[in-house]
Amino acid sequence: MNDVFSPVRLGALALRNRIVMAPMTRDRAGPHDEPTDLMVEYYRQRASAGLIVTEGTQPSPAGKGYWRTPGIHSAEQVAGWRKVAEAVHAEGGLLSMQLMHVGRASVRANKAPDADTVAPSAIPCPDPIPGPDGVPVPTQMPRALATDEIPGVIAEYVAAARNAREAGMDAVELHCASGYLPMQFLSSNSNQRTDAYGGSVKNRIRFVVEALEALAGAISADRVGLRICPGVPFNGMADADPAETYAELLRAVDHLGLAYCHLIHIPNKGFDSLELVRANWSGPVIENCGLTLDKAQDVIAQEQAEAVSFGFAYIANPDLVERFRTGAPLAKGDRDTFYTGHGDDARGYTDYPPAC
Ligand SMILES: Cc1cc2nc3c(=O)[nH]c(=O)nc-3n(C[C@H](O)[C@H](O)[C@H](O)COP(=O)(O)O)c2cc1C
Repeated sequence: MNDVFSPVRLGALALRNRIVMAPMTRDRAGPHDEPTDLMVEYYRQRASAGLIVTEGTQPSPAGKGYWRTPGIHSAEQVAGWRKVAEAVHAEGGLLSMQLMHVGRASVRANKAPDADTVAPSAIPCPDPIPGPDGVPVPTQMPRALATDEIPGVIAEYVAAARNAREAGMDAVELHCASGYLPMQFLSSNSNQRTDAYGGSVKNRIRFVVEALEALAGAISADRVGLRICPGVPFNGMADADPAETYAELLRAVDHLGLAYCHLIHIPNKGFDSLELVRANWSGPVIENCGLTLDKAQDVIAQEQAEAVSFGFAYIANPDLVERFRTGAPLAKGDRDTFYTGHGDDARGYTDYPPAC
C-alpha cells in the first residue's frame, strides 16, 4: 500500500514523495516583481517536498493584483526564478510555477501605473484587497476584454510558461481558483458575456480550455497542471451550478494528458468536489485543504488522490517531510508575517528553523 513518503509520477514529474508544498503568495518580491535572494533561500529550505508549487506569479503586468507578487514576464524576473530553480534542484526537489492572472481582483496602487485591469465583464470584484501598506481597499473597475483580445491574454500565459521553462521550472500550474481571471470566466455571475466565451457552460469554460490547450502545445501537456476550487465564494464568485461547470471543464481537458489537477477540496452543498474530479478526470490528482498527516495518509492509501498538498503547515515547517517522517511536532506560523510586503523581510519567512 502506498503512503505519502512513496514516490509518484505526475505527468513528466517524478516526485520522490507525495507531499506537495501548496502555492502561497508571500508578497516579498523585489521592486521590479523579481524573485529576490531571500525567496531563493525560502524555496531552498522547503525543497524536500516532492513538489513545490510556487506562489502565484503574474504572466503580465495586467495580471498583477497584489503588492510585491513576482512576475515571469521580464528578463530580470526569469533570472531571479532561475536562481530559485537551481537552488531547489540542487536539493533534489521539483518546481511547478503557478501562473496567476488576477483579472478584476486587483488594486491599482499594487501594479504598474499603465497596467490594464481586465475581466470577462465590466463587473468589479466586491471584496476589498490589501494595498501596498496591507490595508484592504476597494478593487478597480475592470474593462471587459474584447473577443479579439482574448488570444492575446492566452499568448501572455504561453510566453510566461516558456519563460518558466527557460528559468528551469519543471512545470506550470494554471490558477483557475480563488476568483481570479480563469475562474471569472467560469463563474456565471462574473461572466455576463454574449460572445463565444460567455453564456452556456460550454462557452464559459472556453477560456480555460483554450489556455490549457495553448500551454500544453507550448511546453508539453505533461508539464502543465491546473488548480481548481469548485464552489468557492472568494473574490465574489457565485456560479449558478459549479458541479456542472467543473464536470464539463474536466471532461473537456481530460484528453490533453495534463500533469495533474490540483484540487482545493472545500465542502459544497449537493456535491463532493473530489468525487466530481474523480468522475470526470482520469489524470493524477493533488488533494488540498485542511489536511493532517493522518488524513493525508488515508487519502493516499485509499487512492483518492496521487499526492497531497499543504499550505499553512509549510509556512513554519520548512522540513515538513522530515517532521512527518519522524513525528516531530509542527511549529505554528505567525499570521502577522504571512504577507509583509518587503522583499528583504526574513521575519516569519526564512527564519523558521528545522526541527533538528
Ligand atoms: C499565506 C497564504 C498564501 C496563499 N497564496 C496562494 C496562491 O498564491 N495561490 C493559490 O492557489 N493558493 C494560495 N493559498 C492557498 C493555499 O495554497 C492552500 O490552498 C490553502 O492554504 C489550504 O491548504 P492548507 O489547509 O494546507 O493550508 C495561500 C494560502 C496561504 C495561507
